[in-house]
Amino acid sequence: DLPSPPGPLSDTSAKLVNVPTHPYIAPGPNDIRGPCPGLNTLANHGYIPRNGIVTPGQIVEAVQEGFNMGNDFARFLAYAAHLVDGNLLTNLLSIGGKTLETGPDPPAPAIVGGLNTHRVFEGDASHTRVDTFLGDNHNFNETLFDKVSFSNKFGNGFYNFAVAKEFRFQLIQDSIAANSQFLFTLPRYFSAYSESCFPIFFWIDGRNPTGNLDLDVARSFFETARFPKGFFRANTPTTLKRILGGIDILYDAHPVGPGANNGTVNSYTVDPTSPDFSNFCGIYAGFVTHIVRPLYPDAQGPLLEALNKNLDFLYSATVIGNMGCTQVPHFT
Ligand code: HEM
Ligand code: MG
Repeated sequence: DLPSPPGPLSDTSAKLVNVPTHPYIAPGPNDIRGPCPGLNTLANHGYIPRNGIVTPGQIVEAVQEGFNMGNDFARFLAYAAHLVDGNLLTNLLSIGGKTLETGPDPPAPAIVGGLNTHRVFEGDASHTRVDTFLGDNHNFNETLFDKVSFSNKFGNGFYNFAVAKEFRFQLIQDSIAANSQFLFTLPRYFSAYSESCFPIFFWIDGRNPTGNLDLDVARSFFETARFPKGFFRANTPTTLKRILGGIDILYDAHPVGPGANNGTVNSYTVDPTSPDFSNFCGIYAGFVTHIVRPLYPDAQGPLLEALNKNLDFLYSATVIGNMGCTQVPHFT
């Protein structure tokens, strides 16, 4: 039987997380890393297994302990990722590329490709990783990071909401102009806006109330995936409602609807069928129906059971977050 997801932290205060029991060790040749600098950091400090092969429960536990992600949001991301990128039969997920280490795959069209897989979670207009159509979607890219020089223009040398508002919009404009295959619908629409807030909510030291992220600290996480010396995690859990509040700040500055280029550059067209941020339950339901379901059109037996169980865990996130969503019915 699949283990139930971990509950919330009992103490959500700021605390030292770069501790001697979780030392930074650079990944070895067989350790897998991927497009998420947060999970890469947790692996490099042993909060999740250093080989980069994890269970969704281990992710929930670690993002709470290391970064004070709220239980609702942690469940939402961990089970969403596992449902599309993980092996539902072995309960293992690669935080990077596809590997035999997650065990024998269920049948195609299931991908079980790890977090590097394009479209189902990883997507375009990332801050420090190139669009898949244009290059390497998972390793740190210095040219992209240099655009964080936006921070000098809008944030007095720090990354903060004033910067994130402009940077998110600029990254979208850049992909529209350069990537004929630019895809910015569900789930990427939601993850791209959330991730622009993550450096502010998760990487500013929990004792620092300014809302300003030092760029050396940003680089330490984005590039090296390493906690700064003496780093305290945030003092406030980032819940679903909190992240949606952050997203609104960015969206209101430059509203862009979910959409895509249609095969040529500069052809961005809004897709009215892809839910926007005013409809979180639509994001949840659309993900289950349009992203997860096509990977498992005719699952049966233990696979179907695991699929529905993980969908229950995903839905539990919306219940804990008081989002008022109706559960998408089990697949049969
Ligand atoms: C990006 C997964 C938690 C920070 C990503 C991406 C994936 C991912 C697949 C690539 C998306 C893309 O840019 O195309 C997850 C999962 C999590 C999680 C499953 C489970 C809870 C976190 C946490 C942090 C974090 C706790 C911060 C401490 C980021 C940032 C990016 C990102 C900043 C954007 C990278 C960029 O645009 O260059 N994550 N993540 N993530 N993640 Fe995570
Ligand atoms: Mg990406």
